[in-house]
Amino acid sequence: MRRTIGWRADGPSTALRTAPLDRRDLRPDDLAVRVDYCGVCHTDVHALSARTGEDPPLVPGHEFTGVVTETGTAVTRFAVGDQVAVGNIVDSCGECAMCRAGQENFCHAFPTLTYGGVDRHDGSTTLGAFCREYVVRDRFAHLLPPGLDPAAAAPLLCAGITVWEPLHALGVGPETRVAVAGLGGLGHLAVKMAVALGAGTTVLSRSPDKAGDARRLGAHGLVVSTDPEQTAAARDRFDVVIDTVSAPHDLGTYLRMVAMDGTLCHLGHLGAVTVETTDLLVGRKSLTSAGSGGLPSTASMLDFCARHAITADIELLPSAQVNEALDRLRRNDVRYRFVLDMSDLD
Ligand SMILES: NC(=O)c1ccc[n+]([C@@H]2O[C@H](COP(=O)([O-])OP(=O)(O)OC[C@H]3O[C@@H](n4cnc5c(N)ncnc54)[C@H](OP(=O)(O)O)[C@@H]3O)[C@@H](O)[C@H]2O)c1
Ligand SMILES: [Zn+2]
Ligand SMILES: [Zn+2]
Repeated sequence: MRRTIGWRADGPSTALRTAPLDRRDLRPDDLAVRVDYCGVCHTDVHALSARTGEDPPLVPGHEFTGVVTETGTAVTRFAVGDQVAVGNIVDSCGECAMCRAGQENFCHAFPTLTYGGVDRHDGSTTLGAFCREYVVRDRFAHLLPPGLDPAAAAPLLCAGITVWEPLHALGVGPETRVAVAGLGGLGHLAVKMAVALGAGTTVLSRSPDKAGDARRLGAHGLVVSTDPEQTAAARDRFDVVIDTVSAPHDLGTYLRMVAMDGTLCHLGHLGAVTVETTDLLVGRKSLTSAGSGGLPSTASMLDFCARHAITADIELLPSAQVNEALDRLRRNDVRYRFVLDMSDLD
């Protein structure tokens, strides 16, 4: 085992404290990565608040960049000193139809999550990247394209890929009218990507004070999702609505803004939802979802972001302020992603 230090929640606590963490010794296809920057995702907030006293300790963090410090004996694609990026899955079976299709995120044997997952070889619970070192199977690390700032690029590996896959799968391009619901970490990257794909893009938000930011990000405008007059005026207007709202909500509001034969892609706060089927029937609308991304699409997302100079708008904080970042994220006080600088753990 190798020792590192990270931010951990123990017992029922939702507060993180520094703790020594064990990492496995390198397998032949492993990399050791010094974690430099890790984004704070709303999923970290959900994971912390779902804890009971029975749960194993939790180390969140699943979108990070860093530098390779050691390589396993069979690693050929990476060398010590390479800048790499890792997202929210770190292994999969490699054999099922989904893995063979490059959709490791949908692995039939379930992908190994970066934290709170079960390691496929030793059965241990994975610990996330709010720490100084992560050991990852080489296939699940990506070279960080030159030109992308490593701190602002970290959120691409969860928030970015989560919105990229559906934008791509739904064929978003210059002819598509896109709306993005919820202007947060996922939402602001969805806006940047949809705009870069050439789509006319609108933000749906309950925060009218984000209108200036929406335009700065390239959107045509902002519809206030809590204003019935504005939502009625936006009826049947969008071919694709990407819903990134982090709290339970009525999908009908957004479905009614989807155009005939269009699609609502529900990405945020997962779990059971209620749908009024007439909201689908009238206009023959589709409801879909997505999560994370496969290895090929993650690589193409990084390439696209490098070509279009897309990274997250971040507030960079020393990792010692992790609890403050989580509290502010709970209060929706973020424009638009917190990233933790792990160098203070040395
Ligand atoms: N499917 C996946 O694989 C996947 C991956 C990553 C994250 N997620 C989930 O996606 C969601 C968004 O994550 P994030 O990191 O982007 O969160 P975030 O930065 O907190 O953004 C969420 C946005 O949702 C809106 N919102 C929050 N509470 C709301 C409420 N009660 N009613 C209406 N709107 C509300 C806010 O936008 P406005 O102020 O503009 O209204 C907020 O900025 C989370 O639930 C997260 O767990 C899913
Ligand atoms: Zn995430
Ligand atoms: Zn598989």
